[in-house]
Amino acid sequence: MYAERVLSGMRPTGSLHLGHYHGVLKNWIELQHEYPCLFFVADWHALTTQYDNPQGIEKASMDMVIDWLAAGVDPNQATLFVQSRVPEHAELHLLMSMMTPLSWLERVPTYKDQQEKLAGKDLTTYGFLGYPLLMSADILIYRADKVPVGEDQIPHVEFTRELARRFNHMYGREPGFEDKAREAVKKLGSKKARLYEEMRVRFQQNGDREAIEQAKAVLDEVQHLSMADRERLFGYLEGTGKMILVEPGYLLTEASKMPGLDGQKMSKSYNNTITMRESEESVTKKVRSMPTDPARVRRTDPGEPAKCPVWQLHQVYSNDGCKEWVQQGCRTAGIGCIECKQPVIDAILREQAPMRERAQVYLDDPTLVKNIIADGCEKAREYARETMRDVREAMGLEYH
Ligand code: TRP
Ligand code: SF4
Repeated sequence: MYAERVLSGMRPTGSLHLGHYHGVLKNWIELQHEYPCLFFVADWHALTTQYDNPQGIEKASMDMVIDWLAAGVDPNQATLFVQSRVPEHAELHLLMSMMTPLSWLERVPTYKDQQEKLAGKDLTTYGFLGYPLLMSADILIYRADKVPVGEDQIPHVEFTRELARRFNHMYGREPGFEDKAREAVKKLGSKKARLYEEMRVRFQQNGDREAIEQAKAVLDEVQHLSMADRERLFGYLEGTGKMILVEPGYLLTEASKMPGLDGQKMSKSYNNTITMRESEESVTKKVRSMPTDPARVRRTDPGEPAKCPVWQLHQVYSNDGCKEWVQQGCRTAGIGCIECKQPVIDAILREQAPMRERAQVYLDDPTLVKNIIADGCEKAREYARETMRDVREAMGLEYH
């Protein structure tokens, strides 16, 4: 019914690291060739936890967008925008808040989890409780049916699906819908009306999808039906009424396997990252000072790659020949650790070179980034306005 559309958002955390690149951004770059994609900076989401210190958010947003562009996200293929610049998200959030049961929000797993994790911060706020609803608005306003997210975000997409269903059920029906639908059935003529009723029962009682298709075929044969009646008969068939919001599906982004400098997963909170555009000197220094297998105290002590974080980076960056060289050389003390680290350093620098180059263009002329975002916001708003027209109409707020 709607074009397949991908939507994803990222909180502005400032400069992104290689874990983001290997986990999320490479995935976005693939998707942008396959689908119309919308990628946005979730700056309001940052405020749900960072409301006491909002000053850095704008800069963090810009740095993050430059990293997207540096990675190869292409503004000619994907629409890039900033959430707070598309105020329609807030309107949908507000309208949906009217019909969102509190208990649904309270039982979203991240609600309690994050409160416990960020125990030093007062997260007993209205905005924080409503965070999954804001995310739902982000998704539903674009009628996105493909949402790439990490595993931790799946409950939020499920929540969004339930909410869309509730919304459609509640507002997707005009007053007197059932009566009008039954009137429309009569207009089909007795034979087709009987067929339609049979199919309707078959679907509603047995969930038989085939029956829906057959009933639709019957409706297609009827020429004198008005658009409104046709819509009613489709809605009546499935028992939903009109579909105003689209239930999204998710695309699971595999958890990043990118190891950090200490062998744990690369993450800002572990302080073990290499940023996407980190300077060559700094990359070299960081890798050179990585811990290795503690058994290799002296150059002549043999080691075991399985006990060494550098080996994990070889698994990301090195070909079979190089990996063989490491295994051999490490176990026989044939190579030293500095030697072993060099191919990793080289590979990271090679990976970063095009990113640094692409980013430089935007660093030299920040108005380019501003323009990309301004264009993206305009495009996003067009979609968003369209949805909001339907939503307002469904909720009786048209005023024309
Ligand atoms: N909540 C997501 C996160 O913290 C970011 C996000 C906000 C998002 N709105 C979204 C992701 C809509 C996908 C779709 O990672
Ligand atoms: Fe690690 Fe390489 Fe040193 Fe072995 S030789 S301990 S794999 S850095």
